[in-house]
Amino acid sequence: MKGVMLNMLPGLPAPPRRRALSLAALLALTSLVLGSSSLAQQVNQTVSILDTSSGYNREMNVLVFWALAFAVIIFIGVSAALFYTVQKFREDKNDAAPAQFHGNNRLEVTLVAVPVVIVIFLALLTVRAMARLNPTPAGAYPVNAVAAQFYWNFEYPNLKVNPAAGNGLVTNGNEIIVPTQTKIAMTATARDVIHGFWAPNLGGQRDAIPGVKKTWQIDTDKAGVYQGNCTLLCGASHANMRFKVIALPKADYDQFASAAQAYKAPAAAAGTPAAAGYAIFMQGKGGSGACAACHRIQGTAAAGQAGPDLSFFGSRRTLGAGAWEGADVDTHLHQWIKASSSIKPGSLMPHYDGSTPNYPTLTDQDLTDLEAYLKTLQLPAEGNYWTKIAALVPGAPVPAAQSPTPSSVNATTSASTAMNGGN
Ligand code: CUA
Repeated sequence: MKGVMLNMLPGLPAPPRRRALSLAALLALTSLVLGSSSLAQQVNQTVSILDTSSGYNREMNVLVFWALAFAVIIFIGVSAALFYTVQKFREDKNDAAPAQFHGNNRLEVTLVAVPVVIVIFLALLTVRAMARLNPTPAGAYPVNAVAAQFYWNFEYPNLKVNPAAGNGLVTNGNEIIVPTQTKIAMTATARDVIHGFWAPNLGGQRDAIPGVKKTWQIDTDKAGVYQGNCTLLCGASHANMRFKVIALPKADYDQFASAAQAYKAPAAAAGTPAAAGYAIFMQGKGGSGACAACHRIQGTAAAGQAGPDLSFFGSRRTLGAGAWEGADVDTHLHQWIKASSSIKPGSLMPHYDGSTPNYPTLTDQDLTDLEAYLKTLQLPAEGNYWTKIAALVPGAPVPAAQSPTPSSVNATTSASTAMNGGN
């Protein structure tokens, strides 16, 4: 029931991905069975655990292949024996009682030995895969995933912010950029409850547990945009806790990395809407509700840790941890800041419409100013990973860029009206 209601909320994308995943898995399985990997290559940009661009997944494919091969052989063998027996020993053909016997040592030993050999063979393959995949390879590139209700922050331990630009580590919310042809040492943890990190095309799933750091490897050979999701039920918007993996060739990744390290949030020119938005972001209104208390923006005094990092917000193409992407970001940004949980169930951000005690009411003008400021938070062109990937991989699922002008109030008003009508 709840699932149905979630799907009916305005603007939240319909959930075609699970079907896409099972379809892609089925297609990829079919291609594996037929001994061809060409189909898996074609569906590379689709969510698939059998994406052969990932070394991790290639290892998994070996296990899937053998387990499936034995299953098919056994299925055919058992079916054949069944049909043969039914046909051969039909009662109308054999009026006399069949010869009675007790036990058949050779058959019994075979029927025990064959499964034992199969299980031992699969166990050895599994242990080999574990030995190859569980240790993080020396020299793997580290990325930290910090999960919280209902978003991700991705930190880059190797990318310290240049002292002239700010401090801390380069961090991005909900969009993770990785180099291709590189083993990534992911480390997952959580701030509140247990979440799960999974980008099926790049490797295995791991739990993100408060107080625990789990490190494992993911990788891909192919530049592209890959979908990730939270995999453990963590609250009302568990299904809306998504992320995008943008895999860039090494040279392009390095350009992003140095641009991000040098990035200092641009100062808004005095008297502009962005300057007014900056003031609200830093100080709130009437002495309360500063966004900076919960959000960090590299190169400013904003260093909050309770919410997603907003340093590159203007360059990002998703909103609400992937609840909206492309043009939908503009459509929902206004209502998102004003009353986020009205459009994303369970969102913990306070409402700025007067309904959260001790938080100020922001006018439409205030919200428009804030949006204007947030949209100035853009990486320089050489660091803009979305434009890079759009140019490098034609046909990659790259969401449309946010429009440089703030969202229209009308669009969000109609969305919230539809939502209220839906309740
Ligand atoms: Cu976080 Cu499910």
